[in-house]
Amino acid sequence: MGSHSDGTPHQSGSVATTGTTAMERFPDPGLPPHRPRLTDVDSKAAKRAERQIALLFLISILGSVLFFVGYFGVRVEGPIYDVTNTAPTQRLQLQNLLLGLGIALAMFGIGLGIVHWARTLMPGHELVQSRHEIRTEEQRAEAQSILATIYDESGIRRRPLLRNTLIGAAVLAPLPFVGLLKDLGPTDLDVLKHTLWDDGVRLVRDPSGTPIKASDVTLGSTFHVVPENLSAIGHNEGYLDEKAKAVVLLMRLDPETVNVSPEKADWNVDGIFAYSKVCTHVGCPVALYEQQTHHLLCPCHQSTFDLANECEVIFGPAARPLPQLPISVDDEGYLVARSDFHEPVGPTYSQRGTHVEEMQGEAN
Ligand code: FES
Repeated sequence: MGSHSDGTPHQSGSVATTGTTAMERFPDPGLPPHRPRLTDVDSKAAKRAERQIALLFLISILGSVLFFVGYFGVRVEGPIYDVTNTAPTQRLQLQNLLLGLGIALAMFGIGLGIVHWARTLMPGHELVQSRHEIRTEEQRAEAQSILATIYDESGIRRRPLLRNTLIGAAVLAPLPFVGLLKDLGPTDLDVLKHTLWDDGVRLVRDPSGTPIKASDVTLGSTFHVVPENLSAIGHNEGYLDEKAKAVVLLMRLDPETVNVSPEKADWNVDGIFAYSKVCTHVGCPVALYEQQTHHLLCPCHQSTFDLANECEVIFGPAARPLPQLPISVDDEGYLVARSDFHEPVGPTYSQRGTHVEEMQGEAN
């Protein structure tokens, strides 16, 4: 066995024993001859490419405008999927079409325009530069001058049509995403502090709206419940928002199997408990009830709440228990709320800081 010039051993063989350097054995083949593009030799073709690129940027601008028309200009008022009044559903479909088409055109136009520009009008000659770290002032100055050359050769200075349409497309294209981010949650966190529940408000079945007597709730049964006063809110006055905050799960448990803290001892009616249905992780409806284990499961990310221990989290990403709604019965035997929730419902991230403590302070 021989060894390389750096002293590492190698197996014998014709290639390894020649003693030549890698450069000698594998010479750099160099670059293929440069072939000018049509736009390099034909000024009409270059002009045509410039117009095509500007058109793509204009398509991008049009896409962003379409998005904003759909987002701000199309109002969906009234209940959707109502067979007696299809207008809201049609407007929702129109809005979805404009939002989707707008984003698609905005991204497509700007992306394809830049690629087309790079392939047809930016300098086509090949450049080779060996890699090295930028350390000295001279090297930094050289890098800056290379960037300046790229800026010059890209044609941005010479082609105001492309520059202006590109600026328009680049400024507008990210704005749809800002709009979508804004819709991830309420900007006014106070709206999560209060729901329609209040002292004496009856619990009614969702969606029939019929009130519930304590005797209707048998051991192991579950009811999806909303406040009776929800029906007084019109669809144009925030019906869906109020419903989303106020939905409650109602079930009867064997009082012997449930741990109840002293301050919540009178929040249930003979083992009938009401808990917010809005998951404290990111707000999905908690709807799976395991009767045998007394577990409530959120289908989105599997957060599991233990009904036997005031809905404390026993698994999953949720950070706090489901808020409990204090309930009692009225003179006619119907289940009613004793108050609003004592803490904000919904995702914990929306209650940054002291929201929970503030509300608990207000309630006490
Ligand atoms: S929303 Fe319930 S676990 Fe994520």
